[in-house]
Amino acid sequence: MVSTNQLRYFIFLSIFLILWLLIFLHSYYQTKGNERTLDEKLESIDDILNEKIQENLAEILEKWSNTEVRLQQVEEKLGNIKLDEIEVVVSHTKEAKRTITYLHKIAILIIACNRVEVKSIIQQTLEYSQDRETFPLFVSQDCGDVATKRVILEFKSQLTYLEHNNKTQIEVGPRETHMIGYYKISRHYKWAIDQVFAYNSEIDSLVILEDDMIISFDFFDYFKSMRPLLDIDTTVWCISAWNDNGKVELAHDNSLFYRTDFMPGLGWMLTKNVWNELRVKWPPAFWDDWMRGDEIRKNRVCIRPEVSRTKLYVQKGVSGGLFFDRFYKYWALNDKEFDFNSFDINSLAKVTYDHNYFLVLRNAKTVSADEIVNNNLEANVQYKILYKDYQEYKRLANRFGLMDDERGGVLRTAYHGAVTFYYVNKYVHLVPAELLKS
Ligand SMILES: *[C@@H]1O[C@H](CO)[C@@H](O)[C@H](O)[C@H]1NC(C)=O
Repeated sequence: MVSTNQLRYFIFLSIFLILWLLIFLHSYYQTKGNERTLDEKLESIDDILNEKIQENLAEILEKWSNTEVRLQQVEEKLGNIKLDEIEVVVSHTKEAKRTITYLHKIAILIIACNRVEVKSIIQQTLEYSQDRETFPLFVSQDCGDVATKRVILEFKSQLTYLEHNNKTQIEVGPRETHMIGYYKISRHYKWAIDQVFAYNSEIDSLVILEDDMIISFDFFDYFKSMRPLLDIDTTVWCISAWNDNGKVELAHDNSLFYRTDFMPGLGWMLTKNVWNELRVKWPPAFWDDWMRGDEIRKNRVCIRPEVSRTKLYVQKGVSGGLFFDRFYKYWALNDKEFDFNSFDINSLAKVTYDHNYFLVLRNAKTVSADEIVNNNLEANVQYKILYKDYQEYKRLANRFGLMDDERGGVLRTAYHGAVTFYYVNKYVHLVPAELLKS
């Protein structure tokens, strides 16, 4: 017989076992369920990742095949290009760069008065400049001469006509009345240059010509090529087309260009910046000699060619006739091709130029004027003649047919007092004796 106690104990145990089983089963199924959702989540992440990878892979493959096609195209093109064509491409690129850098407008200003001969410089400018966008042409007339005005206006569709008619009398002392022309010129210059720079803000440099000049066919190439130098080297304040010692027998090589302390004028370029500096103190007369003075020049230089790109051709005029018969008739004007694209304007920047120029002066063989004139010396060698003072320089200059004057203590064409010219078949340098001592 089972006792009541045993029965109770049995029932209690059974209930306990059932409860335990229930708890166990509950927690078992809960864990199982969690495991399943985790698995599911992992699986879906996996799917997403796979999908993404597939997508990217497809994209990468597509790009790669594009690249392959492009590579193939490049290879084909390369295969077709010959070496000289690559050079053409390179030079075109350089040219493009050049054009980009020199997008400045370079205005051309012709100063006119009462000479109908101004027609020839207008015609030449229109013929040689080609690119009217880069070189807008202005003709400014003073003096009110009707015939000259009519000649200029024949070209009115191709140029901007400026008429200076300031009727105010210029006051000069009794001893200067015969100099009044120089005062008028100075006043006209200032007015005309102001007009041009005010005309268009894209004009940041200006080439000034006068009515008695003619220009070489490469005049515009010269100024366009030299223009950047005015930005590169602040010691250069003007580019001139004129060699003061540019007589036919003294000027030989159209590929040579020099720095000079002497402002040559006669077809010259200045920047708007320089003009803004000069205009506020512009002199009433003799502006060219004024520019040559130390105080205004401040040790800045101009560039000049060996073979001039301008020439004077009529005698009439304020200062005309003074030098014309002696010199200008025999002046050289460049008529041979020179490839300005191949010219490195950096060679004219101060440090490089000075280094090379002084080297040439040092290495030049010291000789006497007689030795040069007698012409027994070896050709194509550089020679120098040392001079002590201005008097000695003057004697030498006259022997070789050079201009012998100085302005503001500077000899025509001189750089550091040294004057270089071509003589028969050699280059000669007249060098101040003390220059090469240091
Ligand atoms: C006209 O000329 C006079 C004398 O040279 C000068 O003082 C004046 O400023 C000029 N006028 C103009 C508008 O340029």
